[in-house]
Amino acid sequence: REDRISQKPLSGKKMVVTAGGTVERIDPVRYITNDSSGKMGFAIAKAAQRLGADVVLIAGHTQVEPPVGIPVTRVLSAQDMYEAVQAVWSDTDILVKAAAVADYRPKEAAVQKIKKSDDSLVLELVKNIDILETLGKQKTMQFLIGFAAETENVEQHAMDKLKRKNCDLLVANDVTALGAGFGSETNIVNIYDASGLVRSVPKMAKDEVALQILELVGERLAGTDR
Ligand code: CTP
Ligand code: CA
Repeated sequence: REDRISQKPLSGKKMVVTAGGTVERIDPVRYITNDSSGKMGFAIAKAAQRLGADVVLIAGHTQVEPPVGIPVTRVLSAQDMYEAVQAVWSDTDILVKAAAVADYRPKEAAVQKIKKSDDSLVLELVKNIDILETLGKQKTMQFLIGFAAETENVEQHAMDKLKRKNCDLLVANDVTALGAGFGSETNIVNIYDASGLVRSVPKMAKDEVALQILELVGERLAGTDR
């Protein structure tokens, strides 16, 4: 194991990892976000560095601090994350989309704090750009890894997303399983490619899950001339 790590199978590869949740403004004091802790993305970034990759992080809202020694661009909204990814995309070999991107944002962020008035308030939301799907359409040589946190029908949703977003690998977890949820120190994942399930990773520390995912990436890249 330590041998494989010390061989640095990802050396020379430029990797971008997005982590955490996006923040969508409602008004100056309120926003919409989600339960993503950032831990899985940060674990991937650390593992990538151990395996020799030249890694940068693009991080949204997280519960933990990003690992020291890895350059990080902080973003808030899905739109910000999209722009940050686009800025580095053409020079990227491997992109890991571990971030939990808000599917919708408030149609308009109010400039002033919204005052309470009526008994009900309707917040109109509009769809955010799907960053991964857009990259899937743009990709040339890049190796794309998507994530899917599901609560049911994990395999079916995972395969649908992998194909729709043109990912090389998709890492899926059932967030309702004990030890696999948001914020947890551990994870349990299934990794898919276009032909189906390629690896089941039982419950283990997120740092270990990250190494397993990236070892698979290393094997895949070694078998191609990318
Ligand atoms: N993703 C993205 N941009 C979005 C939404 C999702 O890049 N606007 C990425 C996530 O970072 C993740 C993958 O797409 O790698 C799957 O995200 P997920 O929320 O599971 O999929 P959706 O396509 O949004 O489907 P749904 O939420 O309806 O299950
Ligand atoms: Ca979503």
